[in-house]
Amino acid sequence: MPLKSIEALLENKIGLSAAAMGAQTVVKAVNRRRCACGLQDVAAYRACLETNKDEWEKLIEEIVVPETWFFRHIQSFQFFSQHVLSELKPCLNKRLRILSIPCATGEEPYSLAMMLINAGVPCERFQIDALDISLQALRKALRGLYSPASFRGRDNMPTFQASYFKQIDGSFQLHSEVMETVCFNQGNLLDNNILADQPCYDIIFCRNLMIYFSASARKRTRAIINRLLKNSGLLFVGHSERVAFKTPDLSLIDARGVFAYRKTAI
Ligand SMILES: C[S@@+](CC[C@H](N)C(=O)[O-])C[C@H]1O[C@@H](n2cnc3c(N)ncnc32)[C@H](O)[C@@H]1O
Repeated sequence: MPLKSIEALLENKIGLSAAAMGAQTVVKAVNRRRCACGLQDVAAYRACLETNKDEWEKLIEEIVVPETWFFRHIQSFQFFSQHVLSELKPCLNKRLRILSIPCATGEEPYSLAMMLINAGVPCERFQIDALDISLQALRKALRGLYSPASFRGRDNMPTFQASYFKQIDGSFQLHSEVMETVCFNQGNLLDNNILADQPCYDIIFCRNLMIYFSASARKRTRAIINRLLKNSGLLFVGHSERVAFKTPDLSLIDARGVFAYRKTAI
């Protein structure tokens, strides 16, 4: 069946599971894209995906869920900030390497940057890399212009909004001082060579993606994150993703409201 074949392609290439996304999500996205292409049936659309790389990118944009907001689960950010301060204090020359994957529209990596700047950490003492598969999301991240929806939730920190954003016609423009500390790139987390040329990271935020992944994509993700994370590095995960990341070399951090692991040598 062509629809099943498209679902299998999505799962194999980018990890997204039709079952985890919700039964109708893939059906609706495929139909929207099929109509936009002027194609009569799903079989013709499946054939089009085979040869048309642009259309494949458009289908991905239609399907992904770039939902995020600043300081989502604030306790994890507070724990992150305390951890960074205690790591940096004894090592004067250390430059911390931090990765946000997936970063969606940028609220997560920018929240990390604001936490550090606010704690007085000089920008040359940390590097934040941020990756996502969605070019649309990355374009928004690079603009740094956000609507009030990006500040929703109990976790929102009004003092950060006042200190690091300029209000423009009901939107909020992030200061360039913060924007310059994050390096955005497009990338597929399931690409075995992702960030292969980069040294390992001290801290990785990989939150709210595994919930959409199939079992086999989760397994591949665990292996990739394990390669990217330094020994004794920290991995922050989404609040319902702890089980998905559980492996013998990760020990759960026991702190209220914090969803994180520390990598331990086995
Ligand atoms: C719900 S957002 C999570 C954003 C942020 N980490 C957070 O927790 O708020 C999920 C993001 O995963 C991205 N994504 C989906 N599949 C991906 C893949 N295979 N590789 C990289 N990013 C992917 C989507 O484009 C989307 O922006």
